[in-house]
Amino acid sequence: MTQIRTIAVVGAGSMGGGIAHLAAQSGFSVVLTDTLEPALERSLERIRQLQEKAVGKGKLTPAEAEETLARLTVTPRLEDVRSADFVIEAIIEDEGAKQALFRQLDGLCRPEVVLATNTSSIPITSIAAATTRAKQVVGMHFFNPPQVMRLVEVVRGYETDDATVALTTDLAKRMGKTTVEVKRDTPGFIVNRILVPQFIEAIRLVEEGVASKEDVDTAVKLGLNYPMGPFELQDFAGVDIGLHVMDVFFQETKDPRYAAPQSLRALIRAGRLGKKVNKGWYDYE
Ligand code: 3HC
Repeated sequence: MTQIRTIAVVGAGSMGGGIAHLAAQSGFSVVLTDTLEPALERSLERIRQLQEKAVGKGKLTPAEAEETLARLTVTPRLEDVRSADFVIEAIIEDEGAKQALFRQLDGLCRPEVVLATNTSSIPITSIAAATTRAKQVVGMHFFNPPQVMRLVEVVRGYETDDATVALTTDLAKRMGKTTVEVKRDTPGFIVNRILVPQFIEAIRLVEEGVASKEDVDTAVKLGLNYPMGPFELQDFAGVDIGLHVMDVFFQETKDPRYAAPQSLRALIRAGRLGKKVNKGWYDYE
C-alpha cells in the first residue's frame, strides 16, 4: 500500500479548511490550496482560533498546536499539490469545475496518487471520467464540521478499484474516523439520501401550516435526539447548498422525494434567504 505522508486539500472553504486541520492534527503534512488567497487566510485564522480554544480548555498543549500548524502549508499555487501522496478535493459543488480541476490534478500528481473528492452531490464516476486514472478516483465524504463528525463515507465510482477503497478507508481511520463503504455511486450516498428528504419534509410541514420551523426543530431535537433540528442544520450547511443538492439529486433520479419545496426556491430567488443576503431560516447575532 502507498505510504501516505503528505495530503493535499484543494479548496479552503469550511469543509476543505476543516479537513486540512484534521489531517494536520492527525500527523500528516498538509498542503492546503485555493485560488482565492482570502479563503486561505480565513482557514488559517479559523484553525488558529480553534487551537487557541483547545489549548485554553487543556485539550491541546501549546507545543502540539505549534506542531500542527508547522505541518500545514497554505498556497494559492495548484502546482504545489505535486508533493502530495493523496489528494482530497473540496471545491465548489459544480460538476464542470470539479472535472476541470481533476483534469489538472491528473496531470500534476504522480500516477499512483489517489484523487478523492468530498462531493456530496456530483457523481464520482463523472469526476473520474475527466482523468486517466478512474480506478484511483474515489469519494471521501466528510461531514461538517470535519474535525468533529465521526463519519466518512467512502464512495466507489464505477471504475474505483479495491486498492483505492482500502487506502482511503485506512487514511480516514488514521484521521480517527469510522468509515462506511458506499458500494454504488448513487445520489446522496447514504447520509444525504436520508437527510435531504428530511429537510424537504420539514419545509413542507411549515408550508402546510402544520407547525412553525421552531417547533419542527424542537420536535426533531427532543423527539429524535438530534443535536440540531432540520432548519438549524440547513442554516449550518448553507441553504443555497441544500437547494442545489436537492436539484442535482432530482435531475439525476427524477424521484419526487428530492423535489425542492417551492417556498425554499422562492425565498432564495427573492433574496430573503441564502448566501447572497447572508440569511438563514433563523437570524443569528
Ligand atoms: N469547527 C470545528 N470544531 C467545531 C465546530 C466547527 N465549526 N463547531 C464546534 N466544534 C467543536 C468545538 O470546538 C467542541 O470541541 P471540544 O469538545 O473539543 O471542546 C465540540 O465541537 C463541541 O462544540 P460545542 O460544545 O461548541 O457545541 P455543540 O456541542 O453544540 O456541538 C456541533 C456543535 C458539533 C456542530 C453539533 O451541534 C452537531 O453535531 N450538529 C450537527 C452537525 C451535523 O449534523 N453535521 C452534518 C451535516 S450534513 C453534512 O455535512 C453532509 C453534507 O454533504 C451536506
